[in-house]
Amino acid sequence: MPKSLYIKTFGCQMNERDSEIIEQLLAQEGYIATAEPEGADVILINTCSIREKAEQKVFSLLGSLRTEKQRNPALLLGVTGCVAQQEGEQIRDRMPHVDLIVGTQQIYRLPEMLERLQQRVTSKEIATNMETSFTIPPFQKLLADAPPSPAPHGFKRFVTIMQGCDNFCSYCVVPGTRGREISRPLADILEEVEILVQHGVREVTLLGQNVNSYGTTNQVAEREVSFPHLLRRVAAIKGLQRLRFTTSHPKDLSTELMRCFAEIENLCPHFHLPVQSGSNAVLRRMNRKYTVESYLEKVARLKQYRPDIALATDIIVGFPGETEADFQATMDLLNRVRFHGSFSFKYSDRPHTRSADFAGKIPEEEKSRRLAMFQERQDQICWERNNEYIGKEVEIMVESGNHTEIKGRTPTNHIVHCTGVEEALTPGDLAIVLIDQAGKHSLRGRLKAQH
Ligand code: 5AD
Ligand code: SF4
Repeated sequence: MPKSLYIKTFGCQMNERDSEIIEQLLAQEGYIATAEPEGADVILINTCSIREKAEQKVFSLLGSLRTEKQRNPALLLGVTGCVAQQEGEQIRDRMPHVDLIVGTQQIYRLPEMLERLQQRVTSKEIATNMETSFTIPPFQKLLADAPPSPAPHGFKRFVTIMQGCDNFCSYCVVPGTRGREISRPLADILEEVEILVQHGVREVTLLGQNVNSYGTTNQVAEREVSFPHLLRRVAAIKGLQRLRFTTSHPKDLSTELMRCFAEIENLCPHFHLPVQSGSNAVLRRMNRKYTVESYLEKVARLKQYRPDIALATDIIVGFPGETEADFQATMDLLNRVRFHGSFSFKYSDRPHTRSADFAGKIPEEEKSRRLAMFQERQDQICWERNNEYIGKEVEIMVESGNHTEIKGRTPTNHIVHCTGVEEALTPGDLAIVLIDQAGKHSLRGRLKAQH
């Protein structure tokens, strides 16, 4: 009898990719992924601890699974990801119904751990140690019996190029939960992308916490390989229509990387460049290692290389000690750059981070007020920016749709709803759309051509 596996994924794209890898690894052991937890033989919660709220969600879900475990004692319940890494002991002590605790760098050991639990060799499995080399198994090994899944988004995939982070921003748990930054060997990355493209994948997003420092902090792979070099090599893979990457650190944005946006045809003009704050005093306390001026200077130069680039960012409001003037500086920065989009968050104290001990904590209501102000202005800018596309023709890669209406994304990552479709298009197809309407979060238009 095949065993069934249910994975619930919280958090970032790194976690989403890790969940795919877990599915692939366990498919080789005969596990079939299911969409519902009811009746599954194994339930894994892949967790996020970036903000307190994310972690609370994990603990409440784990609590509610206690009854499921009582109903079905054969069920194996596991926690993977950042909360497992950071709070492994707490989970072990507070949640005795959890059978398996697997840190961010140990997922490749899941098959043997599950096997021991199933054979009742052990009653609990915990692996949270950190490694000094890249731990994702080579793609060939992952692929043995489990080719990349086709629909719904089989035409676009994430490819991990590094793990960990060495930046130690004062508010961030990532260096603790994901360890030191390690770049993945170039040959493994190229091989993975080549195989994906052979399987029909048309868009790849290179993934890491700080992709643009790829190769520089590396203990294992070729030292001389820089991120721009990696981009050029991946982009040259025949059949790859769109290439993206995320996330980047402004301090590591080199002229060479800017040039890539001008010279690499299939590199999408969309750049996620988290600024976090518009105040130099706050940036210093955040340990971000750049100033507002240097960020603006880089953005201006980037636009010279690629005028149509769409910029997105991350913002934290209410960092300890953030004054009203500091917050206004963030609003000023938003008004100057006019980001195409942003993810904005209220500062959240996290364990083992330096800022957790900083003075000047901002009350919750004040953080909420600042966040609402920021988001309101950002929404307005999104709407204004989206209106600039009216009357323009854009290329979309189709994500879903039917005979009359389709949805897709532009290279700038805008979502486009498109009517006037006569012939069915399948996900991954390219089409040209004339934009005639703009909302805050998406564009609308009519199909001009498909190719
Ligand atoms: N509080 C609030 N937001 C945070 N982020 C990271 N750590 C925290 C924290 N402690 C945000 C940053 C980062 C994004 C992934 O999450 O903006 O870029
Ligand atoms: Fe966290 Fe800073 Fe590393 Fe991003 S760059 S993962 S915010 S420490």
